[in-house]
Amino acid sequence: MSSGASDAAAWSRIAEPARAASGHQAIEWARRRSPVLDGMVRRRLSDGSLEGRRVAVVVHLEAKTALLATVLADAGAVVVAAGSNPWSTRDDVAAALVERGIQVHATRGSTVEEWEKDLLAVADTGPEFIIDDGAELTIRMARDRPEQYAAVRGVSEETTTGVARLVQLHERDGLPMPAIAANDAKLKHLFDNRYGTGQSTVQAILQLTNLRLPGKRVVVVGYGWVGRGIATYCAGLGARVTAVEVDPVKALEAHTDGHDVADIAAALAAADIVITATGGLRAVSEGHAAALRDGVVLANAGHHDHEIDVPALRALAVAEEEVRPGVTQLDLDGKHVYVLAEGALVNIAGGLGHPIEIMDLSFSVQALGCHLLAAADASGEPLPPGVHDFPVELDDAIARAKLASRGISLDALDVSQTDTLSELFSGEEAS
Ligand SMILES: NC(=O)c1ccc[n+]([C@@H]2O[C@H](COP(=O)([O-])OP(=O)(O)OC[C@H]3O[C@@H](n4cnc5c(N)ncnc54)[C@H](O)[C@@H]3O)[C@@H](O)[C@H]2O)c1
Repeated sequence: MSSGASDAAAWSRIAEPARAASGHQAIEWARRRSPVLDGMVRRRLSDGSLEGRRVAVVVHLEAKTALLATVLADAGAVVVAAGSNPWSTRDDVAAALVERGIQVHATRGSTVEEWEKDLLAVADTGPEFIIDDGAELTIRMARDRPEQYAAVRGVSEETTTGVARLVQLHERDGLPMPAIAANDAKLKHLFDNRYGTGQSTVQAILQLTNLRLPGKRVVVVGYGWVGRGIATYCAGLGARVTAVEVDPVKALEAHTDGHDVADIAAALAAADIVITATGGLRAVSEGHAAALRDGVVLANAGHHDHEIDVPALRALAVAEEEVRPGVTQLDLDGKHVYVLAEGALVNIAGGLGHPIEIMDLSFSVQALGCHLLAAADASGEPLPPGVHDFPVELDDAIARAKLASRGISLDALDVSQTDTLSELFSGEEAS
């Protein structure tokens, strides 16, 4: 074992160091299918901006995330990793990262208390930059480690809920550093939230239940980017979709996309499968229990484990049993309700997570976001505190690199193809 690996092993908290081999295999499988992160992004990161900088990566700890952590470490960063949800950690991948000299604080299925302790262990390493998911590390540092928090030089945030939390922190005067809204990059939410979550959520539900979708009534609660993607995949596989929305424009969008739209009570009364994707809390709670049908399957794709209020439904249950791995049967007033993956993100905690090709885009955004923060910091002109957009030119660079990896080239407009006012006003041809 190298000295880096033995130091990482001494400082880490992982479950199964002996399982590193299959973790390395999974990371290598992801690397070979991530041409942008492993190519163009790697090259951009090699300019020395990240050399010796401490970077915390707190994202669902599985193979694609481990590849991101490895690319950052190869660029010279001192990386520490933890999971953004205790149910999504892969212990073999955590072990492989430690063998690569990266300190890890994560074990699958740890209690909320253990998971929070892991996050604070990461905070105590004094990260200068955070690649966060749901702002889980950032908000805990703001609350519990104010000294280390004040020293953070920048955050790059993965998801819708995390960006909303960072905006709230900023409004409360609680964000003393710049944060990049990686989620809002086109190359993130248009692909990851919509297609990645759409495919992987449906895949996970079918895998966990061994059911099929044709003819089933699927209720999608929340018709944002995630809900829309899930609805598209469900309809594509033959389900009849009802969208539940509180935003009238998005509800109309769902209707125009060809789905039924209803309020939650009416929708639940007909549902075979309910999938939440709201980014909020208690979209399905004890007040909805009476409307649930016998045999209904409940799955969550939003960031919070409490979109489906599992503790509240549990409190109403007279009995419960894990009837298949990842499927909990609750006996409610004479009917059975099935909760998948304990109400955690079903596609990640109960499935394989997003397809690798999608995370190649999302993590290219995250890596370049972190690089941008570090390069600006090193130049002596850091970005100002607050939440910043991801630069359009970096979005374009990622899209071009992805297309090039598929052998696709694009045309460029020449000036004669561009509509200009001068042509209209003077009748002159554009030169
Ligand atoms: N599972 C994954 O892999 C994954 C991937 C990306 C994002 N996410 C998470 O999924 C959630 C949704 O993300 P998004 O990008 O679609 O957000 P979004 O803001 O685009 O959409 C959420 C929608 O839910 C609606 N909504 C909120 N509460 C509701 C309620 N109680 N009933 C009905 N509608 C309600 C909102 O009006 C909004 O239209 C977030 O928590 C995000 O962080 C998960």
